[in-house]
Amino acid sequence: MFAYPSRVFPTARLPDGKRRSRPIPGGSKEARASRRGYDRSVTAASAPTGTPLNERSLDELRALHADFSEQYDELVAEGLKLDLTRGKPSAEQLDLSDGLLTLPGTGQFRDQAGTDLRNYGGPLGLPELRSIFAGPLRVPVAQLLALGNSSLNLMHDVIVQALLHGVPDGARPWSREEIVTFLAPVPGYDRHFSICERYGIRLIAVPMTREGPDPEIVRSLLATDPTIKGMWCVPVYSNPSGAVYSERIVRELVSAPAAPDFRLFWDNAYVVHHLTDARPEPIDVLALAAEAGHPNRPLIFASTSKVTYPGSGVAFFGSSPANVDWILRNMSVQTIGPDKINQLRHIQLLGDEAGVETHMARHRAILEPKFDAVDAIFRERLAPFGAGSWTKPEGGYFVSLDVADGCARRAVALAGLAGIAVTPAGATFPYSDDPRDRNIRIAPTFPALDELRTALNGFSTAVLLAETEALLAGR
Ligand SMILES: Cc1ncc(COP(=O)(O)O)c(C=O)c1O
Repeated sequence: MFAYPSRVFPTARLPDGKRRSRPIPGGSKEARASRRGYDRSVTAASAPTGTPLNERSLDELRALHADFSEQYDELVAEGLKLDLTRGKPSAEQLDLSDGLLTLPGTGQFRDQAGTDLRNYGGPLGLPELRSIFAGPLRVPVAQLLALGNSSLNLMHDVIVQALLHGVPDGARPWSREEIVTFLAPVPGYDRHFSICERYGIRLIAVPMTREGPDPEIVRSLLATDPTIKGMWCVPVYSNPSGAVYSERIVRELVSAPAAPDFRLFWDNAYVVHHLTDARPEPIDVLALAAEAGHPNRPLIFASTSKVTYPGSGVAFFGSSPANVDWILRNMSVQTIGPDKINQLRHIQLLGDEAGVETHMARHRAILEPKFDAVDAIFRERLAPFGAGSWTKPEGGYFVSLDVADGCARRAVALAGLAGIAVTPAGATFPYSDDPRDRNIRIAPTFPALDELRTALNGFSTAVLLAETEALLAGR
């Protein structure tokens, strides 16, 4: 019988081995592969330019420490109250969708087929809305469902259903397995990890490269560990690194030998959230999986949370016909149909695929200066000291910052004491355990641009102080 341990096993795949409290299943060959992979990880798109702090003389370091301490004291005295934690759209972005507040409008309650949408029914969601998102998501309309208001909710429910009933191709419910394991590319999305932690699913961290999770490590883990039933993937503009999976990596993920009921949780949350003119070629993961002989492997999730209103948007699920039947069967006992009136007003607001593009271009106009500010301020404040390396994403909602090993928690704490809230260090790793204590997720979308600049400047002071403190303590 399946137990609900609060924490099954700690993260196994660490680069330095020091804080590993349980050996990696499969032994030292994998550990070596993990170390290599981690060093190739994608958290450092921008190269620092100045003399790194750790190459400065003791006298220089002491002078810098005094300088940063003074800056920090001034910062604390300002009594700021700023927030860099929230991966939320700003009010200005929400204004873009205010049409929803008056749509669908009096007398508007039928779809193109003439169905009265005020009533129960229509478990697949409105075909018109499904066809708008079928293109960007690369899922045939017949295999794409438009459902409730949250894709995270769907991911949670799919996992619970898999635990209770098993998935197509599975010999038994996952809860009847002694151990259930998910692979978690790091840095990653904390809410993915929380679902697994809640249900006692073991998480194994896998390093990200610039083009997706390290395929060598994924392949070797899948081949040797049949307890691996799932893997979290944010294939476009990953949270938080902004990495976009290449076709090469996707082909690896869909073809690697694995347990028959292994599933890719393909969370395409940021598929239309571009910040530049570059457009990653959409990858048809379902077709590639079918070609590789594993048609049921990908489970695709997405939503309009960061297109229209988070919490009042529409979530999508796409997969093979067998998986779509499976989820519809599960849902038939949960609900008598989704909120079709909300779906109707989304169709009216967005119109078609081109309408989504136009709408997202308006988001981009608001967001691009904010992401530019992150890069500019880190270049100005951190780069002269070789402190930190960070991503400059071409889309999505986050910047991933790596500070010196062992300094992330201290930098976040110092920022917090100065009134600048930053996502807790470690949040981007399973069990909140960043083995190198270096990764910090920066969320620049919510604050107004001037507040964002103030917060980033203050936060940079905290990083510099944390790094000089650590170096002086070690000399
Ligand atoms: C990768 C990812 N998936 C899912 C979500 C949440 O999506 P939803 O609002 O559809 O539940 C987020 C929100 O930040 C996210 O970053």
